Amino acid sequence: MTIHNLSEQNSILLKFISEIRDVNTQSDKLRFRRNIERIGEILGYELSKYLKYEKGVVTTPLGVKKIPQVEKDIVVCSILRAGLPLHQGLLNYFDDAENAFISAYRNHPDNSDAFEIVVEYLAAPSLENKVLLLADPMLATGGSMISVYDALKKLGTPKQIHIVAVIGAKEGVDFIKDKFPEDTHLWIATVDDALNEKGYIVPGLGDAGDLSYGTKL
Ligand code: PRP
Ligand code: URA
Repeated sequence: MTIHNLSEQNSILLKFISEIRDVNTQSDKLRFRRNIERIGEILGYELSKYLKYEKGVVTTPLGVKKIPQVEKDIVVCSILRAGLPLHQGLLNYFDDAENAFISAYRNHPDNSDAFEIVVEYLAAPSLENKVLLLADPMLATGGSMISVYDALKKLGTPKQIHIVAVIGAKEGVDFIKDKFPEDTHLWIATVDDALNEKGYIVPGLGDAGDLSYGTKL
């Protein structure tokens, strides 16, 4: 897996990451979702440089211009719930992409900190020979990403996988990196050092699903 950590280089992306982390701005849900969406747009733009392009010709009112066109068989797959604003950001740029949605949540069977990942809902097209953009803003333990990937395998083998995430923990990145095909790319806005005992990223941002859509029972 090739890891592209975009905050290793200074750019306007750092402002959006700061706002989603900052306790004084992250409670503005509209801004929080829009910042995740904007980060999705930036990650999508960066990964677009690694896609395949075909010859193309565009006719203007005054003539024709040869312009390479991005490959068409892209599927954007997001992990519910928190993946939704990131999905929209990717879709803003890959507007012709097919779409897939899959749910994953943490189940604490005995109300302890220990949890298992439950995957229930899946709505997706075939992934056979497609370019899969797999989006989830938080890559904490990496458990959700791996459970989702396992569930998607029955839909076919993508020709290329790009994982798109906003904040990761080193542990989660290490956990997933050998579990995907070697030519997989991880596009991540930033990576933090620690996970706490509940599997939350520290300093992270808190709960991305709740910050986007409110608390759940
Ligand atoms: C968040 C996030 C990931 C998962 C990451 O979802 O969107 O799916 O946690 O954690 P992991 O790497 O340890 O698996 P959450 O369980 O909070 O669900 P939600 O999106 O419905 O709020
Ligand atoms: N899910 C989140 O939303 N945040 C974390 O830090 C870990 C999992």
